[in-house]
Amino acid sequence: ASDNTISDTLLHWYDEHARDLPWRARPGEPAPDPYRVWLSEVMLQQTTVAAVKPYFEKFTSTWPTVDALAAAEEAEVMGAWAGLGYYSRARNLAKCAREVAGRGSFPDTEAELRKLPGVGDYTAAAIAAIAFERRAVVIDANVERVVARLFDIRETLPQARKVIRARAEEITPEHRSGDFAQAMMDLGSGICTARAPKCLLCPLSAQCEGRKAGDPAELPIKAPK
Ligand code: ADE
Repeated sequence: ASDNTISDTLLHWYDEHARDLPWRARPGEPAPDPYRVWLSEVMLQQTTVAAVKPYFEKFTSTWPTVDALAAAEEAEVMGAWAGLGYYSRARNLAKCAREVAGRGSFPDTEAELRKLPGVGDYTAAAIAAIAFERRAVVIDANVERVVARLFDIRETLPQARKVIRARAEEITPEHRSGDFAQAMMDLGSGICTARAPKCLLCPLSAQCEGRKAGDPAELPIKAPK
């Protein structure tokens, strides 16, 4: 899109307010190691940031590189994962580490990343954007909620995902799409929260159609079961 008002505003906010998380680069630093981005995104697939932090620290101090993780006994990896849940993630993690170690490095495109064990559409987009600075559209539940509100999308989930993706595609910038995605996640987790969004603190409130319509907290709307 040629109108970068939303991404410019959000990236400016992110430069000031990004959460300092162990898998992120600090402001001004180069993009983080793909191994750390992959590991964090797999851990974050079904687990909160707060729960992931100590596990991420434990894994990266025990196995600082993908080669080190690939050389570990699977039982050791499973043991270190204990408590995080969804154990197929740990089995895929070990498998993926061996595959990446075998080929020498992580692939650097979304399409190639998606072929790795345990790496789906979301994770492939996140790694491509955050670690390799490729433009990718990264959509998790937080991003979904922010986009539904920004554009006052009133279709119900799951059908709404198609238009949410189209809008997310339009506002994702050519550069810094990884920072943009993580800014959307920070906004969704701290400000544009599921209940009682803090619109007065939101850098995008002036552009938010859901807020103009008066009931952003109602969005996105889930289809009745
Ligand atoms: N949830 C999933 N990936 C994340 C990231 N990179 N930063 C914050 N929250 C996340």
